[in-house]
Amino acid sequence: MIPKAVRIVEVGPRDGLQNEARIVPVSARIRLIGDLLAAGCRTIEAGSFVSPKWVPQMEGTAEVLSAFKHRTDASFPVLVPNEKGFDDALAAGAKEVAIFAAASETFSRKNINCSIAESMNRFASVAGKAKQHGVKLRGYVSCALGCPYEGGIGAEAAVRVARQLHELGCYEVSLGDTIGVGTPERARNLVRLVAGELPLGAIAVHFHDTYGQALANIYACLEEGVTVIDSSVAGLGGCPYAKGASGNVATEDAVYMLNGLCITTGIDIKAVAKAGQAILDLIGKTNQSKVASALLSSS
Ligand code: HMG
Ligand code: MG
Repeated sequence: MIPKAVRIVEVGPRDGLQNEARIVPVSARIRLIGDLLAAGCRTIEAGSFVSPKWVPQMEGTAEVLSAFKHRTDASFPVLVPNEKGFDDALAAGAKEVAIFAAASETFSRKNINCSIAESMNRFASVAGKAKQHGVKLRGYVSCALGCPYEGGIGAEAAVRVARQLHELGCYEVSLGDTIGVGTPERARNLVRLVAGELPLGAIAVHFHDTYGQALANIYACLEEGVTVIDSSVAGLGGCPYAKGASGNVATEDAVYMLNGLCITTGIDIKAVAKAGQAILDLIGKTNQSKVASALLSSS
């Protein structure tokens, strides 16, 4: 049942850097993505087209995207919260965008300043435009296993949002444990329930590692047949609207476990660890990846 290959969606340049107190210059974001490409990453979230008043860290995403327009061998999805974001992304040459809804009403308001129902109306407009322009559409369900404001979230809320995003045309829906509170059986149960509504191949998982459960959760989801995993180089990040949340599972840690399971990813683990260390040196942070720390100290 465990898959033979997994696609890693590297979210460090977006989910990681959006949460850094220090705004990382566009040139360093471009260098990081270049290093990740050289390490074999082929899906790299390049940034977001959101309000710079809300998330100033992601200003300049158009410039980041344009640096990679020649790279037809990789995808560079960008987050868009509304039509304006989509229009800006399209003008910058985006071929794939991600819309992001939440399973929690309060989080939806804090993150994108509207209710879940309103967000779905906005996303329907984005989806219509994406279809018209041949832009691929990915979707996120934030707070799928818990909310920083409301606490527990019933699985049915996450399943409903996942179904709605898929119906809007998302080829893939990523189940986000935004604050990393999930545990393996809850993660497994959620995947099972979502797989009752959309194809298994359309489900991705996105675990933040706040409570150190991300790898265990991923393993449980692999056992359910999930083949797409979001991760962040060096475990960078958090969420600006989820205080105290850690970054995603580190790409290096996920790839090390997948390598041990003989699951191919196409990623060179040492090269990805070096890419992560280079950006950490720039922003002055310590590595959140145990695997990267071990590999880099032994080489
Ligand atoms: P709002 O203030 O309600 O927007 O924000 P508005 O429509 O009232 O417009 C106000 C101003 O924002 C206007 O400018 C608009 O032009 C501008 P002004 O007239 O004042 O000069 N504006 C924009 N500017 C740039 N790009 C845009 C855009 N839209 C409006 N797209 C809005 C609503 C959605 C824009 C805001 O709340 C926002 O940008 N939120 C983004 C928050 C965010 O990026 N959060 C992090 C990503 S989610 C996440 O990390 C979770 C995830 O990883 C999954 C998981 O972990 O579970 C995905
Ligand atoms: Mg996230």
